[in-house]
Amino acid sequence: MKKPVSFIFVVFGGSGDLAKRKLLPALFHLFKNDLLPENFAILGLGRKPYDDISYRQKMADSIKDITPKIRTDDQSIRNFIKRIFYSYFDMNDDLSYKELKTNIQKLNADIKTSQNILFYLATPPEFFKMVASGLQAEKLNLEPSNSWKRIIVEKPFGHNLSSAHELNTHLQKIFNEDQIFRIDHYLGKETVQNIMAFRFANGIFEPLWNRNYISHVEITSAESIGVEDRGGYYDTSGALRDMVQNHLLQLAATIAMEPPSTFEAKAVRDEKYKFFQALRKIESKQINKQVIRGQYIESMIRGKKVAGYRDEINVNPESQTETFVALKFFVDNWRWADVPFFIRTGKRLPTRVTEMVIHFKKTPYHLFKAYNKNHLAENQLILRIQPNEGILLKFGMKVPGAGFQIKNVDMDFHYSDLIDIKIPEAYERLILDALNGDNTLFARTDSVEASWQFVEPILDAWKNDSSIKLFGYPAGSWGPKEASLLFDNPERDWRSPCKNLTGEDTYCEL
Ligand code: BG6
Repeated sequence: MKKPVSFIFVVFGGSGDLAKRKLLPALFHLFKNDLLPENFAILGLGRKPYDDISYRQKMADSIKDITPKIRTDDQSIRNFIKRIFYSYFDMNDDLSYKELKTNIQKLNADIKTSQNILFYLATPPEFFKMVASGLQAEKLNLEPSNSWKRIIVEKPFGHNLSSAHELNTHLQKIFNEDQIFRIDHYLGKETVQNIMAFRFANGIFEPLWNRNYISHVEITSAESIGVEDRGGYYDTSGALRDMVQNHLLQLAATIAMEPPSTFEAKAVRDEKYKFFQALRKIESKQINKQVIRGQYIESMIRGKKVAGYRDEINVNPESQTETFVALKFFVDNWRWADVPFFIRTGKRLPTRVTEMVIHFKKTPYHLFKAYNKNHLAENQLILRIQPNEGILLKFGMKVPGAGFQIKNVDMDFHYSDLIDIKIPEAYERLILDALNGDNTLFARTDSVEASWQFVEPILDAWKNDSSIKLFGYPAGSWGPKEASLLFDNPERDWRSPCKNLTGEDTYCEL
């Protein structure tokens, strides 16, 4: 892996949860794996009253919590936290930006970071524009010769098409597109990157990867947790905005994009954009046939009462926000014409799993029907993103003995079989790429807006048409049963759930 040149990593929202749970631990792992340069500094900015020492201690504790194998006296943590600094910062106050400039100049002189700065906006989205303008006022967006300035923006990128466009326009007035890194942590997941390797480094799958051989594509991203302490944010968002508009459509783009001409950022992102452009808008009268929304209601899970969504903290007791969404859509291009894509995601489902299933068409003729009453099951290729990451291919095989009875068997690969290889956290890869100026795995303006163009008519229909139902589903179930009707075919359904040893619904293991 390429090591970045010296830098200062400035985190707005430095005393928040994301910095503590994801960003600083990711930087620490990069440091421990010798992927960071000799000279670097991390500057946390926030309103909490830390100083360098107390902030370092807080971050060290958090790294130890997240990586329990690291001993308290681990020298590498001590070496790492020496590079961390903290300043009080009020995003609303011009003075804070002036002080930031002075702090940066000082760190730059002390640590010799060549004025390379990565700004990370780990703040609520309403501050994105304000912070970008504050940086501009102090000329912290400019790149004096031989140095770089980059900005990472966390999701959500807008609340709808117009706010996404407004945000993009604002950022692009201050930074060049190449300086802007819109993070979608799903793109940093090792298993998601592997989809591209799987498709484009192997000769056997790509010839089958089209409407001639694939009957449909299914993506499930289930979470067993509820909204936890994020009710305030989630109630203004919902599953479609929170998961589909970004993470899951990005997964679909990775599965469906054309092979790029090179593995350069521009070529890869151009192909992804073409996918987003090809998404067929769902007509308003089709929305209740192609999109099912649900909200979890109180239920018992493993003998314990679990609150319904409307009883969660900071959620409107009459909330119409969906905690589950399932949709069917089409990609209007040569490769995928008329192949349905299905996506479902939800909170408080029976288990946590994200996977994609490529369903291949059946054989044209059922040669063994004398021995097998039903037509054989379709071949499936399952790409498991998390947990128990791996890939599984299901195919039919003759049962040994007389006759020609066919049984589905599995051929599988598990990442856990790769002894000594730890799957890195998505943030590690993405932060390293941003430090190296590689934006291949970051969302580009045009794709973000094209994705909103697809999603927005659904949001509008939900807002304006009260006849579209919001189905209740018991917490701990697989969502509203109406989600199965999207398949329009009694032989098809979502990949069926399995039972665990105690008879509860779970997802079938790979
Ligand atoms: C976040 C969403 O972007 O992704 C959360 O805001 C969701 O609601 C999370 O829980 C899921 O990420 P992961 O990596 O746990 O699948």
